[in-house]
Amino acid sequence: MDYKIAVIPGDGIGPEIVAEAKKVLDKIGVIYGHSFEYQELLMGGCSIDAYGVPLTDETLEAAKASDSVLLGAVGGDVGKSDWYKLPPDKRPEAGLLKIRKGLELYANIRPAVLFDELSGACPLKEEITEGGFDFIVMRELTGGLYFGERKTIEENGVLKAIDTLTYDENEIRRIAKWGFEVAMKRNKKVCSVDKANVLDSSRLWRKIVKEVSGEYPEVELTDMLVDNCAMQIVRDPKQFDVILTENMFGDILSDEASMVTGSIGMLPSASLGAAKLGLYEPSHGSAPDIAGQDKANPIATVLSAAMMLRYSFDLEKEADAIEAAVKQVLKEGYRTVDIMDKGKTLTGTKQMGDLIVKYLA
Ligand code: IPM
Ligand code: MG
Repeated sequence: MDYKIAVIPGDGIGPEIVAEAKKVLDKIGVIYGHSFEYQELLMGGCSIDAYGVPLTDETLEAAKASDSVLLGAVGGDVGKSDWYKLPPDKRPEAGLLKIRKGLELYANIRPAVLFDELSGACPLKEEITEGGFDFIVMRELTGGLYFGERKTIEENGVLKAIDTLTYDENEIRRIAKWGFEVAMKRNKKVCSVDKANVLDSSRLWRKIVKEVSGEYPEVELTDMLVDNCAMQIVRDPKQFDVILTENMFGDILSDEASMVTGSIGMLPSASLGAAKLGLYEPSHGSAPDIAGQDKANPIATVLSAAMMLRYSFDLEKEADAIEAAVKQVLKEGYRTVDIMDKGKTLTGTKQMGDLIVKYLA
């Protein structure tokens, strides 16, 4: 089959890590007889430099016309870069929000997996993580506080900022379905996370998730308050399979979840909607401090490409092959600097990509 992939290298280390993911995809194409055609698009700071905005309407249309989107990372150093002197809706991250909304990618999947080979990097005590853990955060991505009305006004000489948190039942229902569908392919456990002891939007969330769970009798549903969940992720991460939650809570919990694996440079993510087209990107950011130095870990991006094959193109065995090659490389002792350990072999970005390609064969 032929697949048209919109590639958005972005800023910072984005171009370097995306280049390695493309190498891996090309090799998959050769082995399994697919052809991947790439269209490079600008988003983030590089788009601001070229067009004055972080994402043009034309670029969004081009992304829409693709079979799927592979993204590196966007954004720069907030303290140093001129991009952050622009108004908030013109900054690099605004491009990310616009593409999520524009492609209607309302379901964001962020895995938190403890890789056996890297368990030494996990900041949790061994007795907590023994046997490993493997869960995902299923984050609602196009609603809630991120997309509610916001403004800053002055009342009687006092500045006042207002952000609005709304969810309607349809928005909750469709993300809940994703949560249960993915749980069906995993360990059949959904933990729905909210703040129902305070927020109306959370009370509606809980009600609708419960309703949807009726369609998935095999899946065990539990509810958890978000503050408790933040605690449970460090206390006992093994209890989780699918954490299902709204946009803002998911933003925060997914960072926490990636941190407890000890290897954020390893974690991919997928943003999906009703159609097959998805947006795939590493969970980490653009790391401007190490950009262009061949130091970045390309594995999260390579694994994001694997997720693309699995979720958007239904190429299960090809995705498995990439994941197996990554494991093999780690087993052989190769490490980029972020996951380097005593007695291991230090590799740069390019060499890591080449090794993954080598172990694919
Ligand atoms: C993320 C990021 C974004 C978000 C920012 C950059 C807007 O933190 O993808 O988690 O908050 O969604
Ligand atoms: Mg975040």
